[in-house]
Amino acid sequence: MTSSKNMQVTIGDLTLKNPIMPASGAFGPEMEQALDFDRLGAIVPKSITKFPQPGNAKPRVCETNGGMINSIGIQSKGVEHFLSHTIPAFEKYQSPIIASVSAESIEEFVDVSATLANQASIRGLELNISCPNLKGDGKAFGMDATITRELISQVREVTTKPIIAKLTPNVTSIQDIAIAAEQGGADGLNVANTMLAMAIDVDTRKPLIGNVMGGFSGPAVKPIIVRMIYQVAQVSSLPIIGCGGVMSGRDAIEMMIAGASAVQVGTASFINPTALTDILTEIEEYMEQNEIIEIEELIGSIII
Ligand SMILES: Cc1cc2nc3c(=O)[nH]c(=O)nc-3n(C[C@H](O)[C@H](O)[C@H](O)COP(=O)(O)O)c2cc1C
Repeated sequence: MTSSKNMQVTIGDLTLKNPIMPASGAFGPEMEQALDFDRLGAIVPKSITKFPQPGNAKPRVCETNGGMINSIGIQSKGVEHFLSHTIPAFEKYQSPIIASVSAESIEEFVDVSATLANQASIRGLELNISCPNLKGDGKAFGMDATITRELISQVREVTTKPIIAKLTPNVTSIQDIAIAAEQGGADGLNVANTMLAMAIDVDTRKPLIGNVMGGFSGPAVKPIIVRMIYQVAQVSSLPIIGCGGVMSGRDAIEMMIAGASAVQVGTASFINPTALTDILTEIEEYMEQNEIIEIEELIGSIII
């Protein structure tokens, strides 16, 4: 029965054997002890930058009701280290690697994307245009439609790999940014990165995050992300990768029904290292119970 199910989904010209992949920053080679990487739809390493960067002030993570706030600040060893160390650790697996790129300028996004363009084992680029931890009071490229369009169109010129734009939820209209990303030449949209947030210790009156603000993730954000997936699916024909608060197979299916073609899992893996494959198993069970043969049937299948 299991073998008769088809869990394949497509993002641009990339076919994934199933829709489940890790969220950037919540996954690393050390997880191979807990997880069969070959079962993943894709492998998404932590965002990389052109040059090494140390990350933000500590503490970088705090727990809060329904989730966590992080302000890691794209701690990165730079693109050269990524190619010489990170990629070899992952390319022994069959699952396609989607590299996440972060940068502080459009030029840097273009430079890193050009460096990755000829790497055969990197099958797609996810542009993190949404990290809220960059300097500038949490502002991100993806808060401005014009900049989003320009950034993606410049990256489009240096690579033929599928480009996924990881949108920020910290905007008035995520639909406007989604349209701009599509116009710029994106092949897929990640909806979305973390929500800009803050937590304060009432005893010390100090922020619980060294950088004062950080990105909120975990189960509490899921209803907001489901709403955004639904909204983005109304205005864009691009495949959507839902991201934010997925803890179970049913959460992932909910995002697919809202319009997502694939789903990323972050915080859940910190709580349970086998979350990614547990979620996959739950989806298989759901398909079995509901006699679904093709998982693609679920995408955007919401009944209003
Ligand atoms: C510790 C931590 C580090 C993260 N680092 C990155 C990163 O490097 N690049 C990125 O695009 N997103 C990063 N994120 C955001 C996640 O990829 C994801 O968008 C977010 O956690 C929401 O999904 P979740 O609720 O399943 O965790 C990070 C999240 C956490 C918790």
